[in-house]
Amino acid sequence: MRVAALASGRGSNLAALIAARLPIEFVLVGSDKASAGALAVAAESGIPTVALNPRDYATRTDFDRALFGRVADAGADLLVLAGFMRIIDAGVVADWEGRAINVHPSLLPKYRGLHTHRRCLEAGDAEHGASVHFVTAELDGGPVVAQARIPVRQDDTEASLATRLLVEEHRLLPAVVGAIASGRLRWEGGAVFDGDPLTTPLDITELL
Ligand code: GAR
Repeated sequence: MRVAALASGRGSNLAALIAARLPIEFVLVGSDKASAGALAVAAESGIPTVALNPRDYATRTDFDRALFGRVADAGADLLVLAGFMRIIDAGVVADWEGRAINVHPSLLPKYRGLHTHRRCLEAGDAEHGASVHFVTAELDGGPVVAQARIPVRQDDTEASLATRLLVEEHRLLPAVVGAIASGRLRWEGGAVFDGDPLTTPLDITELL
């Protein structure tokens, strides 16, 4: 399975995916930021990289078409959004239905968007978590495939929650990509796991 990833930031989820040594081939890592750590992570592993600057494009759609065009040209079967912090044009996303996944630091459908750890603390939640979902035009809104959960402690801060959750993200994302690579998880107009339509998100333990 040929995998491309898009990332805007430091790239720790990408690094975890590479370190998992799954039976996949990384064909491209792309970013909207030339300075993204994820590009350095990819380059260290000999993975081709591309950075396009949104300011070089007249519209958001033009930029998305260009970046996703590069992903398509690389021959990716699966696109992993690993900390890609942009809203993507609906028409561009539609071309990747069932072939793109995103990792998000909340128990979706709770806390789409930014500041998920802060919002979890402010709500007084007893648990927090991370989700991997298929990407649709709705930001952080596509069908959730799998989640990992952590308890929220009395003394947790935004930073401590983020640190503990990141460890779980680093297990969750490779587990889901591994399930897709092995054929356990498929897209047939909706997520299908072990031959049955996925009606509720899997717990990470079901994938390990
Ligand atoms: C991760 O926490 C990921 O879940 C989040 O960005 C971070 C990227 O970290 N993604 C989103 O918030 C997407 N809505 P990384 O660059 O170290 O992998």
